[in-house]
Amino acid sequence: MDLKFGDIQETALIPLAIKASETSRPNARIKDPKAKEIIDTLGVDVSKYDPVLSHEGVIARTIMFREELKRLLQKYPDALCVNLGCGFDDKFSQVDNGRLQWYDVDLPDQIAVRRKVYSDRPRCTMLDGSALESGWTAQLPKSAMNIIVMEGVLEYFSKDQVKTCLNMLCDSFPHGYLLAELHSPFLEKNGKHHDAVKHTNATFGWGTKSGREYLDLEPRMKLISEHSYNEEMKKYTLVGKIFSVIGKNINNRLAEFKW
Ligand SMILES: C[S@@+](CC[C@H](N)C(=O)[O-])C[C@H]1O[C@@H](n2cnc3c(N)ncnc32)[C@H](O)[C@@H]1O
Repeated sequence: MDLKFGDIQETALIPLAIKASETSRPNARIKDPKAKEIIDTLGVDVSKYDPVLSHEGVIARTIMFREELKRLLQKYPDALCVNLGCGFDDKFSQVDNGRLQWYDVDLPDQIAVRRKVYSDRPRCTMLDGSALESGWTAQLPKSAMNIIVMEGVLEYFSKDQVKTCLNMLCDSFPHGYLLAELHSPFLEKNGKHHDAVKHTNATFGWGTKSGREYLDLEPRMKLISEHSYNEEMKKYTLVGKIFSVIGKNINNRLAEFKW
């Protein structure tokens, strides 16, 4: 299949490749049969997108985002959830409680490719939309609680774009949680050496030392928690353990904001 992606959209092949390869391993830490099926259907060679450090990071974040979402959904089982910048991710299947409303949102060319490998499901709908403008949010039903997931998306935005996105979320949803992946200033400066992203044309944007730096851009948001991926990575492999020491302050984080 002839696929044309924008620079950031191409990065969606990285978590896809990693989730598929982990699924085929003995003692897989996550099982994502859909990822393997998507690669076979699209017929893309994703071997270069699965280096060891990125592999460990994506597995850690997949587990951390899933567990945090499940925790929030116990409190708000009827929440409207938006996977903003969804790529090929199948988080809905991991956390569905039979009640939530889920929207998979991404740029139109990414959603066009996603539609080749996914169909809309009951309570799980795909939608064209950008994290940098609000038009698409008018198509969503109103909900007392909204949970926005941005996994592997904000790292590619400039500071101005992060501000635009945060302001858009607070303007569009009266109350919500944002579960977001944040990265360090070190990665912003050294992104061209990133073991997986260097194989794409994408570049990293504004890095932060703490999610508190986001609050200056959108004062309606509060930072609820922030956890380095090291906390999960160090549980499994020697690489993960070593990186949690030498990469103590430079690994990506899962930050949870509320407004
Ligand atoms: C690294 S991928 C992450 C995909 C998915 N969240 C995951 O973890 O598998 C980055 C995604 O961000 C999307 N993206 C880039 N700019 C965007 C924007 N302005 N609005 C929405 N999505 C965007 C890309 O199309 C791509 O799917």
